[in-house]
Amino acid sequence: MSTHQTQVVIIGGGPSGLLLSQLLHRTGISSIVLEKHTREHVLGRIRAGVLEHGFVNLMREAGCGARMDREGEIHEGFHIAHQGQLDRVDLAKHTGGDTVMVYGQTEVTRDLYEARDAMGGTVIHEAQNVQPHALRDVHPFVTWEQNGEAQRAECDFIVGADGFHGVSRKSIPSDVLKEYEKVYPFGWLGVLSETPPVAEELIYARHERGFALCSLRSRVLSRYYIQVPLTDRVEDWSDAAFWQELKRRLPEEVAAGLQTGPSIEKSIAPLRSFVAEPMRYGNLFLAGDAAHIVPPTGAKGLNLAASDIHYLYHGFLDHYLKGDSAGLDSYSEQALARVWKAERFSWWMTNLLHRAPEGSETDLRLQRADLDYLFSSDAAQASLVENYVGLPY
Ligand code: FAD
Ligand code: DHB
Repeated sequence: MSTHQTQVVIIGGGPSGLLLSQLLHRTGISSIVLEKHTREHVLGRIRAGVLEHGFVNLMREAGCGARMDREGEIHEGFHIAHQGQLDRVDLAKHTGGDTVMVYGQTEVTRDLYEARDAMGGTVIHEAQNVQPHALRDVHPFVTWEQNGEAQRAECDFIVGADGFHGVSRKSIPSDVLKEYEKVYPFGWLGVLSETPPVAEELIYARHERGFALCSLRSRVLSRYYIQVPLTDRVEDWSDAAFWQELKRRLPEEVAAGLQTGPSIEKSIAPLRSFVAEPMRYGNLFLAGDAAHIVPPTGAKGLNLAASDIHYLYHGFLDHYLKGDSAGLDSYSEQALARVWKAERFSWWMTNLLHRAPEGSETDLRLQRADLDYLFSSDAAQASLVENYVGLPY
């Protein structure tokens, strides 16, 4: 068995884990990142596209903002299509200038990997059977296998940044961990295509046939989603059927301008609200999707991972540089306060824009009233915008 020594072992080499290891390394705190898959696999996942300004600032603080600042697009607004009309939500007007940035999670992750390489950070890929141990001891440790050889890392703290299906959350005893969950009766079918986006800004569409979203990655790369029943499979959807259904859910003038092309990625994501409490057990801290999931409407998942990392990073800084553990001790409470607000917002925006399969006529009327209220009230729009650009850390 090979044994490694480090201050923090980070399980999971997704955006949360990589961002934390990068921030820690810059302040002299050592870490090892253990990732189950290959780098190519991690970079092959097409996920988030919208970054809050808080996330953007954290990437800059981590020294990873140069390409994002060059290639990312600042968005000052987005549209909501409903009942054949297109209403614009003005972000800058309601925030005094805060905006979001459109820059794909794939690119964020690529930039973080490059930064880790440049600093000589330790990111171990294809780590099998990763297992955290002695979580309540002063010296916890993590074991795994690499090319069939047993490995062990001894550390002060373990961070579980291994996503919803990871091992970290599952290693907290069930009588300590409380899980809150809501599963929605529909999913999102997403398509990436090398076509110019149908509009400069995002369009969220509420339609009798179901929700649709027109997003983008660049001027030549579009990302579209449609609400589908949970029983649908990707193989059920040809490209032609996808484009036809998307067009039916968009206002006519938008649909007329939609440029279609072959999909270069197509996948179905289920929608779920999930929170695990507490986010700390002994010397194990959970961060990102390992602790919580939001339905994607409103683009909060990756951004919520970033605010966890912000709190955790500052907790580690105070602990190691000032000998003050108050930040680590309040991490779970602080992170969860923001998590639940993002959960509420994502749940609200999902309900506002999706067609519930079992929904009654009364539900439809309430949904329509919610939209009418939104676009007749500056206060309602300000609330939407405050959440969309991201609540303060
Ligand atoms: P992950 O990205 O899941 O990373 C966890 C890593 O841990 C993975 O690389 C995994 O391979 C690794 N791992 C798992 N188990 C183990 C193990 N046992 N040992 C070692 N490693 C392990 N969010 C937004 O903010 N904006 C959006 O616009 C947005 N759109 C989305 C669209 C879709 C279709 C989907 C599916 C998600 C979207 N999200 C969005 C959510 C966002 O992608 C996630 O919240 C984000 O990936 C969370 O990052 P993470 O690092 O916490 O977890
Ligand atoms: C994207 C995903 C979202 O969930 C969202 O609300 C906006 C954009 C995207 O993948 O581009």
